Amino acid sequence: MDKAKLQLMGREYELPVLVGTENEVGLDVTALRGASGAITFDPGYGNTGSCTSAITFIDGERGILRYRGYPIEEIAGRASFPEVCYLLIFGELPSPKQLAHFEEQLTRHTLLHEDMKKLFEGFPATAHPMAVLSAMVASLSAYYPSRGEEERDLNIVRLLAKTPTLAAFSYKKSIGQAFVYPRNDLAYTQNFLHMMFAVQAEPYRPSPVLDRALTLLLILHADHEQNCSTSTVRMVGSSQANLFASCSAGISALWGPLHGGANQQVIEMLQHIRDDGGDFKKYVGMAKDKSANFKLMGFGHRVYKNFDPRAKILKHAADEVLRELGVVDPLLDIAKHLEEVALSDPFFVERKLYPNVDFYSGIIYRAMGIPTDMFTVLFALGRMPGWIAQWKEMREDPKGRISRPRQVYVGAAQRPFVPIAQRPDKAKTDRETPTPVHA
Ligand code: ACO
Repeated sequence: MDKAKLQLMGREYELPVLVGTENEVGLDVTALRGASGAITFDPGYGNTGSCTSAITFIDGERGILRYRGYPIEEIAGRASFPEVCYLLIFGELPSPKQLAHFEEQLTRHTLLHEDMKKLFEGFPATAHPMAVLSAMVASLSAYYPSRGEEERDLNIVRLLAKTPTLAAFSYKKSIGQAFVYPRNDLAYTQNFLHMMFAVQAEPYRPSPVLDRALTLLLILHADHEQNCSTSTVRMVGSSQANLFASCSAGISALWGPLHGGANQQVIEMLQHIRDDGGDFKKYVGMAKDKSANFKLMGFGHRVYKNFDPRAKILKHAADEVLRELGVVDPLLDIAKHLEEVALSDPFFVERKLYPNVDFYSGIIYRAMGIPTDMFTVLFALGRMPGWIAQWKEMREDPKGRISRPRQVYVGAAQRPFVPIAQRPDKAKTDRETPTPVHA
């Protein structure tokens, strides 16, 4: 095995080197602190491997994304979503029999415990559906506690099967319509469309165009190795918290505008540009101006420094889906112009900023009739098998440990405590105590 040598304060340390399947190199620093007292420092974990994983491979320089070795371009448009869930979670493509059994299980577990409907009643209609989804997924642990290995596998199926029901119910709640129950004769993606768009007592047949578009979107979002939400799921799960609690935390992490929440922000930005007269160059200029505190949402990625293969697929799909649905959306033109201008601008070129998966996904969701604040929920629905697969892999790793990063402390050095009576009225920092706000 190769070893790296580190010179530190006059001493030399040897660090074991890990080499992955695709020759990625990692320096193993686990013993460094014990030997030298030093830790590694990497805010935002941009250059830190937190685990070994056999699920997803990304080469950001070459725009490569593979699930369990299969290129995303070969999976997208050719596999069903349950097939991809099976692949990610269990490691291999299912045989026809295995897939039929898995799909049957997913169908049988779509219903929610009836008492959970009361939880929905407690939310205001204006609640963001991501808030509802994360709360409801955490609540599943109250209804389906995990009691050992067997129950754990059943809970994996339950979580996959019930997430579309929870997501669709949160949408129905937000528009004041009655919940639509899942149907056993519909496949996974069709069932979600049915629960979203059927109105009780009216027959609804999910359109094949919508079904195909949804399948593609879910597959493209299904896993993305150690991103912010997945690392959150692993971090929470590393304390041996249950699957539902861990994935609920992942949903919360995904919600942020720098992560999955960007898909909602992209559409809001494009709408804003349109309402402001469509001058996209002005917004490219603002994104370059550090004092403007404005970012082109849907641009940039921590890992992809050439192109995001998912964005490439979605750009083509956006054209196709809009054409098939007969939708003309001026936001698609604005998005394409924005991309063109940004990609030829040295600011974006030098920083290797390209459209990411969120740039075109919102345009397709809009054309499908999905409301803007449900976009990130759709992302969560797609990412669920990835979170589950990563959680499972972590829990099955015999070398798994609780996640517990270190820090470099930069606060005050030791000082004596001053009792309240001896403290001056005005603190040195001039910091005022915030006035309490009573709701
Ligand atoms: N618009 C304008 N400038 C940008 C953008 C952007 N969207 N993204 C990065 N930059 C600039 C930064 O200001 C920085 O410039 P500097 O070197 O002059 O300081 C440089 O590019 C590097 O960017 P960082 O923020 O350091 O990159 P990081 O890897 O930390 O962040 C992130 C990646 C969060 C995705 C960032 O590009 C961003 O905020 N993009 C917009 C939000 C977005 O689309 N998020 C979705 C990501 S995909 C996903 O999570 C599913």
